[in-house]
Amino acid sequence: MALVNDAADIVFANRALALVCGSEPDALVGRSLADALPALAEEVDWSQAARNAIDRGRTLRIARYELGPSLHVDCRLGPLADADVASPLALLTLDDVTEAVGLEARLLRQARTQAIANLGDSVAHEIRNPLNSIHMNMQLLREGLAKDPPDKPRLEKTATTVQREIKRLDGVVRDFVQYSRPPALRLELGSINHVVRAALDLLDAQIQEKDLRVDIDLQSSRPIRMDRDRLQRAIYNVLLNAVQVTGREGSIVCRSRDETRRCLLEIGDDGPGIDPNQSRHIFEIFYTTKAGGTGLGLPIANRIVEEHGGRMAVNSKPGHGATFAFFLPYDGPPSSMDSGPTVAGSNA
Ligand SMILES: Nc1ncnc2c1ncn2[C@@H]1O[C@H](COP(=O)(O)OP(=O)(O)OP(=O)(O)O)[C@@H](O)[C@H]1O
Ligand SMILES: [Mg+2]
Repeated sequence: MALVNDAADIVFANRALALVCGSEPDALVGRSLADALPALAEEVDWSQAARNAIDRGRTLRIARYELGPSLHVDCRLGPLADADVASPLALLTLDDVTEAVGLEARLLRQARTQAIANLGDSVAHEIRNPLNSIHMNMQLLREGLAKDPPDKPRLEKTATTVQREIKRLDGVVRDFVQYSRPPALRLELGSINHVVRAALDLLDAQIQEKDLRVDIDLQSSRPIRMDRDRLQRAIYNVLLNAVQVTGREGSIVCRSRDETRRCLLEIGDDGPGIDPNQSRHIFEIFYTTKAGGTGLGLPIANRIVEEHGGRMAVNSKPGHGATFAFFLPYDGPPSSMDSGPTVAGSNA
């Protein structure tokens, strides 16, 4: 342990800390913590940390420090209870957390193994359904062919079902590969508004068929570093959901605007909205409430937005539609890749 002043200069160090620093206790006095613990100097602003600990009056965990493969320590800084107010001191402690780190690593490995097993279950489930259907329909085909004369229209129908299920399987595999092994982004400057319009064009037939009203209020004018095709895919997936959930003559809103360092795109619909119990699952892979759904649309969209250094959020009141927001930094990746999608809403 050590005592430091509010500039993080050492005023006292014990032998254990001196050993860690490869020095003698007396030789550490007068040196700054940044100098004594150089491995952390880039990550930690020690004088700021010392001032924080003193000002806030409580112990703060500063960093986890790997002193070697078999020694991990947590550095903490707290105010020294009896320190003279005129020259307040902070107490630096290093706690050996080697065992906890090992345990965390083991738990992480177990969690990963479990996640892979869960994913495997989900993929197997998604593939088994169409396979079962193909199997049954092939059986029907065989029986139908054995009839004399064969019922041709019926056989045609069965063959069409088989084809549709094969297409579905192909779609599941393609989407899954795209989700799990996305190709590298091809970044260039582009307009989010163009991408939204292109995605809307792809859905034109379905929009016309349902007589949907689409309000377009695209105000963003700053270009974004983006992979145009992939971002279009993300926006398409969200628009497709909106088109699917809205009733005849329903309405969809597309709004974009510039914020300080990012663009905000919102896609809203007046469909049934999302139950709060469900909304926390909608970005999970294979979560679907649709009969023919795969549950990959939103996870893929979210993955693409995160690859762009952005994030997605959803806001919904059941019975009052849902709005999906895309927050996209102009500079593209890497930035703000820390959090998952935000889920908000209420029962009101
Ligand atoms: N606009 C929306 N309004 C209401 N519920 C929605 C909306 N968008 C998504 N959801 C819910 O989120 C679930 C997951 O959506 P997602 O796009 O990931 O999969 P999907 O649409 O069910 O299937 P897929 O997109 O793979 O064909 C949907 O099944 C639905 O329950
Ligand atoms: Mg979908």
